[in-house]
Amino acid sequence: MNREAPILDEIFRKVDRIPNFPETAQRALHMLQEEDRVDFRELERVVRHDAAITANFLKLVNSAAFGLPRRVNSLLQAFSLLGINQIKFVLIASCLGEYLREPIKGYNLSPQDIWMHSLACGLMAEILARRAGLHRPENLYTAALLHDIGKIVLGLYVEGEIQELAKVLAENPDLTFMQAEWMVLGADHAIVGAELLRRWKFPKEVYFAVRAHHDESLMIQSHLAALTALSNALVNLMGIGAGLDTFAYHLPEGLLEAARVSEKDLFPAIVETFEKVENLKSSFFS
Ligand SMILES: [Fe+2]
Ligand SMILES: [Fe+2]
Repeated sequence: MNREAPILDEIFRKVDRIPNFPETAQRALHMLQEEDRVDFRELERVVRHDAAITANFLKLVNSAAFGLPRRVNSLLQAFSLLGINQIKFVLIASCLGEYLREPIKGYNLSPQDIWMHSLACGLMAEILARRAGLHRPENLYTAALLHDIGKIVLGLYVEGEIQELAKVLAENPDLTFMQAEWMVLGADHAIVGAELLRRWKFPKEVYFAVRAHHDESLMIQSHLAALTALSNALVNLMGIGAGLDTFAYHLPEGLLEAARVSEKDLFPAIVETFEKVENLKSSFFS
């Protein structure tokens, strides 16, 4: 390499150009915190403000993956048929779609790949949490859906360096993906994603889980982090949104225990996620 890797500060000077996580979604998520007292009409007024999010929202909920009994044409209809956690899920997924208009060159991913990977990770996390008896997953969807947001912003805003990643990995097949990221960028996508979510004022346990999703010792430190990392690993194994880095990570022994997931639940969770992802693909990309 003929130049120094940029330091985190420099990356963030570039990343500062990225728009804030949509204010609409932040306001809506705030309203959804009061689970028992959500005014759906007010919520609709807030979300409707953003036409792109609204369009994504309706397209997503009308996919068979969300199992609504009938087709819905308005946000209000959708809200009344979904649970609060499902509304949060679809809302975050709808916002994420807005960051993915262009391919993420250095990571060898199309916007569809990474969006599907993120959605699949969110769906997998939901399924695993249900099987683990976690009835109030709180911030789990947020962490699982946004775990690779660092890749998205690095790919979009630090383009020159990120293109060099593929080259470095090809020339040094023994490097792990994280080592290559550090060599080229002076940071990795988990750290960048966590910092971004901190700046966007997401809860601490969310940005910790994102920070930890490739770190063997950190990912077993909280239930949320373990479930997020496990979901990501399983979705990678399924080959959904597989980028350059899919197999260049290791998992710690205590991960299943930390995620409170039993081994016998893994296969059914994979099958269920697969079906939901196929449903999403057919309604979104056909
Ligand atoms: Fe990742
Ligand atoms: Fe991932």
